[in-house]
Amino acid sequence: MTWVKIGCEKELFKNGNTSSIEIEEKNLGLFLSKGKIFAYQNMCPHKGAPLTEGEIKDGLVICPWHGWQLELNSGQMRNNPKICLKSYPAKISDGEIFLELD
Ligand code: FES
Repeated sequence: MTWVKIGCEKELFKNGNTSSIEIEEKNLGLFLSKGKIFAYQNMCPHKGAPLTEGEIKDGLVICPWHGWQLELNSGQMRNNPKICLKSYPAKISDGEIFLELD
């Protein structure tokens, strides 16, 4: 797998600490927290809400529809680690954001 440049940090996060992108027929959610970036499927495993419309708080992504709490570091649901978001390696380098897609 190779790193794919998807855009610059300032542009992708101009409206806050979440951003969504469509790439290779995937809808991905990008989440920025404490200078680190995380990339997950942008669909809540409960009923499919777009997680990038939720809130980032205390290391968690809070689903905007029913409040499920998913760990930013792992993608796991806080109270049920068997439920986990599909994740994609992400990094920021010189203000540009890169993802590894499968
Ligand atoms: S759709 Fe996310 S908690 Fe229900």
